[in-house]
Amino acid sequence: MTDDIAALIADARSRIEAAADGAALEALRVEWLGKKGRITELMKTLGAIPADERKARGAALNVAKDEVAGLLAARGAVLAESELDARLARERIDVTLPPRPLPDGRVHPISQTIDELTAIFGEMGFSVAEGPDIEDDWYNFTALNIPAEHPSRQMMDTFYLRSAGEAGAPPKVLRTHTSPVQIRTMMSVKPPIRVIIPGRTYRSDHDATHSPNFHQVEGLVIDKAIHMGHLKGCLQEFCRAYFEVADLPLRFRPSHFPFTEPSAEVDIGCSRAGGELKLGNHGDWLEILGCGMVHPKVIANCGLDPEEWQGFAFGMGIERITMLKYGIPDLRTFYEADLRWLRHYGFMPLDVPSMTGGLAR
Ligand code: DAH
Repeated sequence: MTDDIAALIADARSRIEAAADGAALEALRVEWLGKKGRITELMKTLGAIPADERKARGAALNVAKDEVAGLLAARGAVLAESELDARLARERIDVTLPPRPLPDGRVHPISQTIDELTAIFGEMGFSVAEGPDIEDDWYNFTALNIPAEHPSRQMMDTFYLRSAGEAGAPPKVLRTHTSPVQIRTMMSVKPPIRVIIPGRTYRSDHDATHSPNFHQVEGLVIDKAIHMGHLKGCLQEFCRAYFEVADLPLRFRPSHFPFTEPSAEVDIGCSRAGGELKLGNHGDWLEILGCGMVHPKVIANCGLDPEEWQGFAFGMGIERITMLKYGIPDLRTFYEADLRWLRHYGFMPLDVPSMTGGLAR
């Protein structure tokens, strides 16, 4: 091997052994073995030397190339190992440390109730559907068979948006109930349908028991042979599971909603003795929701044949059932964002409600 090549290797060795990290090593690889690397450039000069010297020099350059490649690989392995050691040291955890305090946040009772009812209805085979808060008049009223002169369409009850939509179209509304999502679901999902629809709703109403923004959960079941018996069984199952009263009695009172026929309001058993409300079989009654068999006109409005499909729907106020279950006396406190209230009535984030794990606390 000629002296210049031996010197080249010695130079490469000292530089490579001093490389501090993977990036420096890669730069050296390019400098020596890359397309314009020092050894590569020497290879290119082989053609210009006399044939009798060329063979030996070519062999020596190949040896040099292999040697430099070997040095690079060896240094690479050393660097990888020390990087791993550094990471292991850096990421060491001390299992003898005391646990950190749990996060201070709480799940809001409204979210908790939505999680609870999703768990209960989920167990019965329902999935969750959603729809927009800003609705078309058609979904919120017309498709639900609500007549033009119905009081809920009045400005004093409903928030209308100023001239949204195309010219001539009625103004959009902040949905006054979750029922428009019944329509959206029937128009987009092929029956059989089994959904609950929890969400925000809006009415122009503000006092101790009404808030302009509140929450409802809607239920919708559409199939070929669904009848009132299924509706009653389903709601009884839900109410007993949610309120955690095994023999909670339910009473179905005839009522009227434009989108159901027949319609009913449901009361649950309670006692008000001594001014204290107690749920159970105590002879008194408390109204909690509206329901009925979906009106054939509503089914037809969604493009389904009411001779083929039928089912039931229900709707209830989420604040109301939350107040009842957890003894929260004033509706307005739900929206005051008072941390002391939230710490008192809120739920631990890791206690996710489930039918097997217990619904609450
Ligand atoms: N949308 C009604 C309301 O806001 C509640 C309701 C009643 C929903 C009966 C239904 C139902 O689906 O069948 O007052």
